[in-house]
Amino acid sequence: MKRFKLSTEVLFSEDAIDALLELKDVNVVLITDKFMVDSGMVDIIKKKLANCASVAVFSEVIPDPPMDMIEKGINFLQDKNCDYVVALGGGSSIDAAKAIVYMDKKVNDVQNPETAKRIKLIALPTTSGTGSEVTQFAVVTDSKTGKKIPLIDESLMPDIAILDPELVKSAPPFITADTGMDVITHAIEAYVAETASDCSDALAEKASELAFEYLPRCYRNGYDIKARDKMHRASCLAGMAFSLVNLGLNHGIAHALGAIFHIPHGRANALVLPHVIDFNADMTREAAKHSNDSAKKYQKLARIIGLPAPTPKVGVTNLIAEINRLMRYMDRPQCITECGISLEEFEANRQEIVNRAMVDACTLANPRKVTPNDINRILDRIAK
Ligand SMILES: NC(=O)c1ccc[n+]([C@@H]2O[C@H](COP(=O)([O-])OP(=O)(O)OC[C@H]3O[C@@H](n4cnc5c(N)ncnc54)[C@H](O)[C@@H]3O)[C@@H](O)[C@H]2O)c1
Ligand SMILES: [Fe+2]
Repeated sequence: MKRFKLSTEVLFSEDAIDALLELKDVNVVLITDKFMVDSGMVDIIKKKLANCASVAVFSEVIPDPPMDMIEKGINFLQDKNCDYVVALGGGSSIDAAKAIVYMDKKVNDVQNPETAKRIKLIALPTTSGTGSEVTQFAVVTDSKTGKKIPLIDESLMPDIAILDPELVKSAPPFITADTGMDVITHAIEAYVAETASDCSDALAEKASELAFEYLPRCYRNGYDIKARDKMHRASCLAGMAFSLVNLGLNHGIAHALGAIFHIPHGRANALVLPHVIDFNADMTREAAKHSNDSAKKYQKLARIIGLPAPTPKVGVTNLIAEINRLMRYMDRPQCITECGISLEEFEANRQEIVNRAMVDACTLANPRKVTPNDINRILDRIAK
């Protein structure tokens, strides 16, 4: 039996943030980062929350949200009698808000089972990247070990996602590029995931079509609102796809690279994407029994984004070439040393990367079985 459930209400297109005007006489906690305060974005959102009884702002989110910051957020909620949490920012702010609401509820269910109320979560993404506004995942970082901990639970899904392209247009080209490559990686990994279905395929196909068409436009001109709107939708659709079927080896390696070297999430994904596709599609006799289906799906995806793909092999080759071309166009690093990490540092951490990637929850969903040697071969290819 397969299951398809998307519980988040999605409001999208220009002026979608006006929906916040409908919140009346409720207590709101806005969870965000310092940039959103300094850039004036928080003031814009506070104006839309003018009908609320109170609005308190917690702006201590930092990238790759660590557990000690999540604890501060839970403490911040304590005396607010909060009805709604509004998460404003990229994946880090949205994940932080999801984790704070989730853990606050767990604590209250134990301490005040009679009076505990359910706080509703509204997500306002300001990057077109993680799709966190519609997923059942939140990624937090263990403050002591630096390891990323994925929380996975249906109740982590925000109640409402507001996709307003106005919120993304301030993202500079490098953030647009990194987060956009995260969208493409989500769509491609979900498309070939072990448990992919017709439902997740439909979402991944549309997300890929939109992202390959509109990401270069967003990169060229961040104020191109139509392109931003389309990319925001692509991000959300890709998020829905992978929330249904999980991701794969690409995210398994990227999580390790992000946690160890602090490479931004989308950049780490993009670095390994061509090599993971090549690995999953390997059509040598030994690998074929695992990867024939993936190669055919990559071929189909290549066709969908308008590339020649008369055979699986040509489709895979052209898909990889298109990803490399897009990365060069957006001036993205294509190896570890171009990310500012020395080969010595990389080699010193190699075994740790392999160990973490092997046990990452995403790796388990990869369509082709993975061994430590396979990861080492991919690491050889991204080193320099
Ligand atoms: N929950 C999920 O399903 C999921 C999926 C993938 C990744 N993640 C997690 O999400 C995080 C990455 O999120 P991200 O890639 O969106 O980046 P991010 O939230 O870490 O933000 C990166 C930087 O961009 C800035 N920024 C955000 N929006 C901006 C805007 N409109 N204009 C200017 N600057 C802006 C932020 O202030 C920050 O400095 C990682 O922790 C990753 O593990 C979660
Ligand atoms: Fe991602």
